[in-house]
Amino acid sequence: MWIRPAQSADLDAVEIIERQQFSNPWNREYFAAELGNRLAHFHVAAAAPAGEIAAYLLFWRLGGELELHKIAVRRDRQRRGMGESLLKHFLDMGRSWGCERAVLEVRESNAAAIRLYEKHHFRLVGRRKDYYCRPSEDARVYEFDFRGAAPGS
Ligand SMILES: CC(C)(COP(=O)(O)OP(=O)(O)OC[C@H]1O[C@@H](n2cnc3c(N)ncnc32)[C@H](O)[C@@H]1OP(=O)(O)O)[C@@H](O)C(=O)NCCC(=O)NCCS
Repeated sequence: MWIRPAQSADLDAVEIIERQQFSNPWNREYFAAELGNRLAHFHVAAAAPAGEIAAYLLFWRLGGELELHKIAVRRDRQRRGMGESLLKHFLDMGRSWGCERAVLEVRESNAAAIRLYEKHHFRLVGRRKDYYCRPSEDARVYEFDFRGAAPGS
């Protein structure tokens, strides 16, 4: 899988995946703003170097903490290891920067993402009541502790 920083030319593909995968999608302007946000790391992924964008990852680096905001794979490319590769890429970057922890929120009903995070040793640390809308739903809050994690996890 090929992962590279996102560019404005990628926004059409990102927007299509976002609308397909989220019931309350971010709009294009939000993603465009992230391209110029110095805290943000926005990456896209394809199966081949010049291939179609099949997935993306967006997170913020705030000192020693990473906040995962988006990880998504196009529906017809799911269950082929792309989400896992992107999550490993995210954790590898945090490790290389000497980060202490990574945090994320996920819908209570999002079994696929929850399985992915738990497989990679994210720990449930809390819940936020009615955090999401359309539909209204609680969030689970997960944390990854880089200091406590075994190498390669
Ligand atoms: C979550 C998501 C990124 C996973 O991407 P993916 O490429 O399909 O996942 P992978 O093939 O890399 O699977 C890795 C692991 O994730 C978990 N997983 C992925 N899809 C799953 C599903 N449908 N049901 C249960 N577990 C699933 C499993 O633990 C899997 O490991 P395994 O194959 O050893 O069981 C993808 O389902 C997606 O884009 N979902 C919509 C967007 C989203 O909800 N993002 C997270 C927001 S917090």
